[in-house]
Amino acid sequence: MARPLEYGEAILLWEEGKGRTFLITLERGGEFHSHRGVIRHDDIAGRPEGVRVLSGTGYRFIAFRPRAPERMMKVRRRTQIVYPKDAGWLVLALDLFPGARVIEMGTGSGAFTVLLAQLVGREGRVYTFDRREDFLSNALSNLERYGLRDRVEAQLLEAGAPFPVGDVDAVFLDLPDPWLAIPPADAALAPGRPLALIVPTAEQLKQAFGTLAGAGFVALEAVEILERRMLVRKREGVRPFERMVGFTGYLVSGRKALPEAA
Ligand SMILES: C[S@@+](CC[C@H](N)C(=O)[O-])C[C@H]1O[C@@H](n2cnc3c(N)ncnc32)[C@H](O)[C@@H]1O
Repeated sequence: MARPLEYGEAILLWEEGKGRTFLITLERGGEFHSHRGVIRHDDIAGRPEGVRVLSGTGYRFIAFRPRAPERMMKVRRRTQIVYPKDAGWLVLALDLFPGARVIEMGTGSGAFTVLLAQLVGREGRVYTFDRREDFLSNALSNLERYGLRDRVEAQLLEAGAPFPVGDVDAVFLDLPDPWLAIPPADAALAPGRPLALIVPTAEQLKQAFGTLAGAGFVALEAVEILERRMLVRKREGVRPFERMVGFTGYLVSGRKALPEAA
C-alpha cells in the first residue's frame, strides 16, 4: 500500500535522464541545492513514493525511498565497506530472519550493519563491535539517518576478546585478522548456526578457512562474486559495460557443529 513520504525520512532523489542519485533527509522548509537548481522538500513530503518533482531550473527528479543497496552505498564512509553484490551472498549464508540476534565484528562505516538491522527487523538485535570509537559513532549516525539505530547495540571491542552476548543466531566478521575473533564467535554462536566473513586477500582467506576448520566449523564455503553490468541499448547491440568493479573480497561461510559426544 502506498505510504506517503514523510518529514524525517531519508529519501533518494533520482535525476531523470542521468540516473544520478542524491540522498536527502526531508525537513520542513528544507531545500536541496543541486547542480540542476533547488528542490524544495515541501514539494516531496506527503506525496507518494515515485513522485516527480521539478527543480527551480526545470529539471525533473524522482523521489524514492532508498533500497538496501542504495542505503549501503550512501553511508558516510570512514572505511572500506561491504558492497551490495557481496552482501547478498553473505546475508543468505547468515540465514537471517526477523527477530534474529546477530554479532558483527568490524563495524567500519556501518554499511553492512544497515542491512543487518533491516533484515532482523524491529524485534531483532545487531550487536556490532569495533576497536575505533570514531568509526562506531559514524556508523551509528548512518543508522540513525535510516531510522535503524534502535535495533543496534555498538561497543568498543578488540578482536579476540570474548563477546558480551551469547546464544546468537549468526556472526559476521569483517576485519583484517578475522581468525582472532573465531574462538569468541564460536563461544557466542548457538549450535548449528552460521558464521560468515569477508577478507581482501587469498592468504587471509586460507588462514580464516583453516581456523574455522580447526575450531570444528563445517559446511565451509569460500567464494568470490563477479558482477557484470549490462548495457541495454535501443539500436546497437546489448552487451556488458567495458568497465567493471573487478574485485571486492573473498567470502567465507561455515556452520557451528557440536563436538562429537565423548
Ligand atoms: C573494512 S572495515 C569494516 C567495514 C564494514 N563491514 C562496512 O560495511 O562498513 C574493518 C573494521 O575492522 C576494524 N578492526 C580492524 N582490526 C580490528 C581488531 N583487531 N579489533 C576490532 N576491530 C578491528 C577497523 O577499525 C574497521 O572499522
